[in-house]
Amino acid sequence: MKGIILAGGNGTRLHPLTSALSKQLLPVYDKPMLYYPLSMLMLAGIREILVISDPVSLPSFERLLGDGEQWGLGFSYAEQQKPEGLAQAFLIGETFLAGEPACLILGDNIFFGHGLPEVMRRAAELKKGGRIFAYRVSNPSRYGVVTLDDTGRPLNLEEKPENPQSDFAVPGIYFYDATAVERAKSLKPSGRGELEITDLNRLYLERGELSVEVLGRGIAWLDAGTPVSLMQAASFVQTVQERQGLMISCPEEIAFRMGMIDRAALAALAGGMGANDYRDYLLRIVSDNS
Ligand code: DAU
Repeated sequence: MKGIILAGGNGTRLHPLTSALSKQLLPVYDKPMLYYPLSMLMLAGIREILVISDPVSLPSFERLLGDGEQWGLGFSYAEQQKPEGLAQAFLIGETFLAGEPACLILGDNIFFGHGLPEVMRRAAELKKGGRIFAYRVSNPSRYGVVTLDDTGRPLNLEEKPENPQSDFAVPGIYFYDATAVERAKSLKPSGRGELEITDLNRLYLERGELSVEVLGRGIAWLDAGTPVSLMQAASFVQTVQERQGLMISCPEEIAFRMGMIDRAALAALAGGMGANDYRDYLLRIVSDNS
């Protein structure tokens, strides 16, 4: 399975923070926002990743992430000329995907919680159909919304409904089989002129090929698209990290723990950094033999 991180858009809700900097490069406490969704793909065991962003921001992502070799990954980059919808990622990513299944994650979605790596690994084994997630929220109208039957099977999907039929929002991480590109090609722009991910999901749903996994209350799903939610996400990360002495979504650590790089490579990464808490954290992992 290959991964796509969609990190474009106008960041309108964060202006003026985003007038000179891409939203997904803004800090969420001590890391660029993109590190959080990237970490999810890594936890799923996905190593080939396409980063899609607007033409102005893309070089900044390339500066931040490089070719990925330092973390045992391979990064590719592609431009999205205009934010014409999440499902457009599959049109832009067609060559990169080369007929493989894919996981798409939005560059402003942050996940944390017990059991999540296992959920991700299982989803990444998907060969047929689509897998999305459902997460109870207090404000479903802001999201894609899924209604489930008593057995947890999806009944219907709506994008930002005024009167949502359920409290289950669909988080911005989606797993699809190799047919996603062809299905995306058949989509028509919605009323707001976008190729909607909800419409792509509906194509799977209508054929009985969509499975939904509920992410329970023990898992945190945050988006960081407004000044308040950005601050809340930063505060959440800071609180948990300080309490545990462990980092949330540190790609170097995940690369090491997932066996994507060895201890010597981790030491070299830490050695190449200026003296700061991030480096000290990595050095602690290097010398920890437990
Ligand atoms: O966060 C989960 C939600 O993401 C889902 O529940 C919704 O079904 C889905 O439509 C999406 O809703 P948003 O309102 O968050 O979508 P937004 O247009 O804000 O785009 C999400 C992110 O993707 C945002 O960081 C900008 C980026 N983006 C967006 C579009 C439309 C792109 O990179 N390219 C695009 O064309």
